Amino acid sequence: MITTQNLTRKFGTNRGVFDLNLHVPKGAIYGFIGHNGAGKTTAIKMMCGLLKPTSGTIKIGDYEVVPKNLPKIKQLIGYMPDITGVYEQMSVWEFLDFYGAAFKIPPKQRKERIEAVLAVTNAEAMIDYQVASLSRGMRQKVGLAKTLIHDPEVLILDEPAGGLDPHARVEMRRTIKELKNLGKTILLSSHILPELASICDVVGILNKGKLLAQGTVKEINDMLHETLSISVTVDSDLEKAMALTKPLDGVVSVQMSDINEFFINYRGPRESAGDILLYLMENGVRVRWFAENEADLENVYLNITQDNGGEE
Ligand SMILES: Nc1ncnc2c1ncn2[C@@H]1O[C@H](COP(=O)(O)OP(=O)(O)OP(=O)(O)O)[C@@H](O)[C@H]1O
Ligand SMILES: [Mg+2]
Repeated sequence: MITTQNLTRKFGTNRGVFDLNLHVPKGAIYGFIGHNGAGKTTAIKMMCGLLKPTSGTIKIGDYEVVPKNLPKIKQLIGYMPDITGVYEQMSVWEFLDFYGAAFKIPPKQRKERIEAVLAVTNAEAMIDYQVASLSRGMRQKVGLAKTLIHDPEVLILDEPAGGLDPHARVEMRRTIKELKNLGKTILLSSHILPELASICDVVGILNKGKLLAQGTVKEINDMLHETLSISVTVDSDLEKAMALTKPLDGVVSVQMSDINEFFINYRGPRESAGDILLYLMENGVRVRWFAENEADLENVYLNITQDNGGEE
């Protein structure tokens, strides 16, 4: 649904974004991850037609992002910038009505649309608030409501969880999932990594303007031969189980985590990890639970950005 080809925007010689080949499948949630200054906002602005690329192309659905297609692109995309909140003197209702009018939604349907977008963002209660009086979290909700007013197919959200407390983040994630269920294609940026892992279908990691990796969290993990973390719970003989595990192929380390549980750091083909379980059971260890812990996006990200001269 969103495809960029060698998308480049240079600010001077080494700042900006370079040769981005991004692919967001229809109906997917795409997590665009990168440090401050990595180029997320720059790339997003180009996708929305707000910034002209130095070179490269962008397609949203069937339309190339070029000046003559901008009216169509604006209908297709809902863009939520990283900072929302001009028009401070308006009430939330007036604010949304203003945007509805800008999208030429007839007055009769506008009321319905405003109610619908406030419902989906859980912001119904704020309809009469002054925009100026909204807290950060409320502003994000209203900003998202505004983004949805013309019922766009594609949502491009720049740091939708930026500045939100943990509770509000959970709520924002829930809303984003709901929007996916309504059939939207969603690209969202963040530097808050573990958060994205749970909701994104695809992740793209941007560092210093370049896309270092793109794929599902698991694919990226595999690609990097990340160490797997496996938890093992046994009925008894924890020490014996740990001693048996330690010398096995691919086992980097074992670590006790509870009275009857230990973690294995494993580096090797994922398919062979099950051999550890087999070996333990053949040697009389009663294993109650054996599971791969979820890929740790934070580690993956730190690893690749370090390998590529990242700042952290
Ligand atoms: N208008 C501009 N003029 C000059 N340099 C710019 C301009 N806009 C962005 N840059 C530079 O391009 C790089 C990418 O900035 P961008 O805002 O896209 O990063 P970001 O990933 O969105 O960061 P953040 O997480 O802080 O929002 C930075 O080095 C920034 O200084
Ligand atoms: Mg930004």
